[in-house]
Amino acid sequence: MKLFLKNARVIDPAQNTDDIMDIVLAEGKIIARGPDLKAPPEAELIELAGLVAAPGLVDMHVHLREPGLEYKETIASGAAAAVAGGFTSIACMPNTEPVNDNRSVTEFIRRKAAEADLAHVYPIAAITAGSEGKRLAEYWDLKEAGALALSDDGKPVMDAALMRRAMEYAYSLDLPVIQHCEDKNLSGCGLMNEGYWSTVLGLPGIPAIAEEVIVGRDILIAEYTRTRIHIAHVSTAGSVRLIRDAKKRGVQVTAEATPHHFTLTDEALAGYDTNYKVSPPLRSRADVEAVKQGLADGTIDAIACDHAPHARTDKEVEFEYAACGISGLETSLGLSLELVHDKTLTLAQLIDRMSRQPANILKIPAGTLAAGADADITIIDPALDWTVDVQSFRSLGKNSPFHGRKMKGRAVLTIVKGTVKYDGRALRP
Ligand code: DOR
Ligand code: ZN
Repeated sequence: MKLFLKNARVIDPAQNTDDIMDIVLAEGKIIARGPDLKAPPEAELIELAGLVAAPGLVDMHVHLREPGLEYKETIASGAAAAVAGGFTSIACMPNTEPVNDNRSVTEFIRRKAAEADLAHVYPIAAITAGSEGKRLAEYWDLKEAGALALSDDGKPVMDAALMRRAMEYAYSLDLPVIQHCEDKNLSGCGLMNEGYWSTVLGLPGIPAIAEEVIVGRDILIAEYTRTRIHIAHVSTAGSVRLIRDAKKRGVQVTAEATPHHFTLTDEALAGYDTNYKVSPPLRSRADVEAVKQGLADGTIDAIACDHAPHARTDKEVEFEYAACGISGLETSLGLSLELVHDKTLTLAQLIDRMSRQPANILKIPAGTLAAGADADITIIDPALDWTVDVQSFRSLGKNSPFHGRKMKGRAVLTIVKGTVKYDGRALRP
């Protein structure tokens, strides 16, 4: 199968490219790119004038709920949501039932992903057995089975000595450790950000320092053990400052931010709508501005949506009992493009944060449109006006506070290994 992509605005930060070009794809690879190429015989021509061709987007932090919680999401439905959102690669967190803390679960995820045959799905394995924070999982086994990072996401590793051992073991296998930074003693029974709105609404608060204490601690442990640490879903100004200072010192720390943490504040909780309940919680305006600044100056390397699909029965309960999380894969690019519209980032910087950076952190073969690379390509219509409708989501999780939000720009074609896996061109006027 050959494709000839014609007249696209090719934005490839890895090659410093932003030019109108043609791209030829064959046998799953990019075989040529340049201006005014000749169409190879038998190639299907796709005219892309006015559209952007980007390296396939990578989301390094998603929750697929299989095995065990298939009523929320399956690997197939999550991968379908990924390609509909423009993602060609996703990395899935281990908080399934059972937890992905052994090779049989890792192998199961890879098999299901291969059967779905949509996006690339990379399993992230647990740091500790059952993510219970008591003893380490078998990293060597997990790596051999295909896990490419470690995390107890959803829960922090609270024991600093165990975290040190985890980092030392991870170092020996060159696996990044991804931490959900939350000091459980400080967050306590909190339900939202601690501040003006938690006082007004009468909900117990989670202070910013609950996150920052662990960010600071883990930067120190990473520095001491010379291991790579990745800070998941950065939500506070203090975390951004700690990461910026650590990077200046040469600590191998990377970080991600979610679209909900840079587009919403804790004021959104005013209606007690459980779709806004997330972990870490939505923060103050000053925190949102600091996260955006962190993305602009490169302190925060990547955008990842923390796709957390839940069923209606998980969310349509009293605020205290509602599950945390937002079904994010199908709104991530639209929300992230708001950073381009408000001039926080250039379009090339946004594509960098959504493809090359996460690919580099995970060391996966993605994030570039260079000749010879895998043909994972996302075609974006940056001018397409559309409105979020959760009923049109491929994801089983309809839990999005963005239902009804007007967006400008979306993925209209998602190509994985040279094959079209999502075609949304009919959405164009
Ligand atoms: O909001 C969240 N939901 N944050 C997490 O850390 C976990 C996730 C989930 O698994 O639902
Ligand atoms: Zn998560």
